Amino acid sequence: MKPNIDLSDKSLKGVINILSDILANQHVLYLKTRKFHWNVYGESFMEFHLLFEGQYKELEESIDEVAERIGKLGGDTIGTMEEFLKRATLKESPGKYPKSKEMAAELLKDHESCIAGLRKSIEECDDKYEDAGTADFLTNMLQQHETTAWKLRRYFK
Ligand SMILES: [Fe+2]
Repeated sequence: MKPNIDLSDKSLKGVINILSDILANQHVLYLKTRKFHWNVYGESFMEFHLLFEGQYKELEESIDEVAERIGKLGGDTIGTMEEFLKRATLKESPGKYPKSKEMAAELLKDHESCIAGLRKSIEECDDKYEDAGTADFLTNMLQQHETTAWKLRRYFK
C-alpha cells in the first residue's frame, strides 16, 4: 500500500532515488572500511584495526536505516552489488593494499565526498521534494560523517 503522508508521487520517487544512491555509496564505503580493517599492518596495527572496525559497524547501522527508510516511503530497496556499483560515485580500489595512513587518507576523502553529496541531497529533499523527514534524516547522517571525517583528519597535520 502506498504511504499517504502528504508527499506527491513525484516527491516519493525523487527521494527514493536519492536514498538509493546514498545506499550504494554506503556499501562501497562499508566494504572499503572492512577491507582496510582486514589488511592494515604496521606499528599502529591494532589502533587502526579497531578504528576501522568501529567505523564499519556505524556504517552498517546507517545502511540499515537508509534501506528501511526507502521502504517507509513506499519504495523497493535495491540490494545487489550490481545495482550498488551502477549507482555509486565512490570508487573501489581493487588489488591495492596501502599503508595505514594512506588508508586513513582514502577513507577521509570518501567521507568528505559523502558530506558534500549529502549537502546537495538535503537541499533537494527540502526545496524540490518538500520532504522534511528525509532532509532531517540525512542531516543527522551528514553529522555522523563529519565526526568520522574529523577523527580521520586528526592523523594529519
Ligand atoms: Fe574483524
